[in-house]
Amino acid sequence: MTCQEISQRPLAITSSIPVKPTAAVIFGATGDLTHRKIVPAFYHLAKNGLLPEDFAIIGFARRPKTDAEFREDLRVALEQFSHTKPIDYSVWDKMSKHIYYHQGDLPDLDSYRSLAERLKALPEADAIQGNYLFYLATAPNYFGDVAGNLAEVGLARAERDGQVRRLIVEKPFGEDLQSAQSLNNTLQKAFPEKNIYRIDHYLGKETVQNLMYFRFANTIFEPLWNRNYIDHVQITVSEKVGVMGRGGYYDSAGASRDMLQNHMLQLFTLIAMEPPASLDAESIRDEKVKVLRSIPTPKLDELTKNSVRAQYGGGFIDGKAIPAYRQEDRVAQNSLTETFVALRLEIDNWRWQGVPFYLRTGKALSKQYTEISITFNRPPSVLFASSADERLHRNNLRIRIQPNEGITLNFNAKKPAKAEAQGVGMNFRYKQDFTDYLPEAYERLIVDALTGESTLFTRSDEVEQAWRLVDTLHAAWASQQSTNLPLYSAGSMGPFESDLLLQREGRRWASVPTDI
Ligand code: BG6
Repeated sequence: MTCQEISQRPLAITSSIPVKPTAAVIFGATGDLTHRKIVPAFYHLAKNGLLPEDFAIIGFARRPKTDAEFREDLRVALEQFSHTKPIDYSVWDKMSKHIYYHQGDLPDLDSYRSLAERLKALPEADAIQGNYLFYLATAPNYFGDVAGNLAEVGLARAERDGQVRRLIVEKPFGEDLQSAQSLNNTLQKAFPEKNIYRIDHYLGKETVQNLMYFRFANTIFEPLWNRNYIDHVQITVSEKVGVMGRGGYYDSAGASRDMLQNHMLQLFTLIAMEPPASLDAESIRDEKVKVLRSIPTPKLDELTKNSVRAQYGGGFIDGKAIPAYRQEDRVAQNSLTETFVALRLEIDNWRWQGVPFYLRTGKALSKQYTEISITFNRPPSVLFASSADERLHRNNLRIRIQPNEGITLNFNAKKPAKAEAQGVGMNFRYKQDFTDYLPEAYERLIVDALTGESTLFTRSDEVEQAWRLVDTLHAAWASQQSTNLPLYSAGSMGPFESDLLLQREGRRWASVPTDI
């Protein structure tokens, strides 16, 4: 097969294991996530031929609604939120006939008894043979109730070998170590750990999965991937959006719980982990946990020095006036919640000792992008005149997770007709090399949960280890007893203190991309 042929192969999601006829029950069926992400993902799986004929979706929520009304709500949402347009109605019409609505109260056991009856009475029940995937898309305070009630009515455990009884859990997974441990205990009483699929949607992104391919399916990068060649690593998740009506949740979470504990640390572990013994879920997750365990427990005053938290004040994004965070709906007017966090981490292991990892994420920033930047050490400066040498750029890899996904390798080249070096880049862009379909994270994750492939889901010890770090960060901040926190203007790239975090070590944040 030629390179051209390989790169032209459709990127449509594939699965080596076929999805069994299954009923997927979505708790929180009238909520935003169901409409925005989950049902559009099921639609794309159906469109790509990955769902069997006898596949049913049951929405479980409190409001009274008929099946027909529920289907119509979902159709309208699909029109709005599908990432491919136009909607293929030959697919949707067929699929929506297998969508049902079950009215029930999340804490009420009777609602689960009637759910069990309903599942048995589905027109598809004979083919489904009791294979159920339960999806917790509710507010997190109901996670325990739902799992407990499912267990109580006998829906959580398989009745025979090979029967599917799995649980997908959305974030937030706890709000600190203690609550995460207690949630893990509650869920594990109902479902065995191997059947619990904790979603971190970043792991479903093609570009995040590509980190493993990039590192371990190539010869040229991995030998350099260590303290001997790498000066430092940066991970930026920059969001232009504010809290988008989620002030109630966000004000008690902040950037550290909303983004750092999960998405940022996932990117961090994938960049830093050792090659796993094999590609099976446990081997990969073992390596990721080892990275988190290798972060030395920082002293509180060190952590205070090595972290920055800040909140956005008013400003302008794309010429539009943005109100300060404290003026957002359901946000306390004297809120001290951070909408920006930057953190310097080290990993105390053979590969990484002494290499700083700088992580930053924030809302209401100037650009919407996620990028990992890896800066290599300078070459020995014996060959070039000192004037040119000053202009030598450090080699640098920029891995763009989103948008305009791709990888750029920056290196020095001779400027034509001059004895001077100039930084140039080699570019890989998904859109150029892969002309086909780039699936959404939820499609990958749902199909994996349906087929029992758990690599892209977070294991309980991984979640807990990440909370240990974030809890220490909170303790460090609490020890400061500050009555205020730095503000940054909406539409900037965060507070001055974040630049200082790198400047004091002679470094700076990678420039903001210009191609988005
Ligand atoms: C979610 C956070 O998990 O991730 C949101 O709760 C954030 O606050 C979102 O906006 C970012 O995801 P993405 O895929 O848009 O980068």
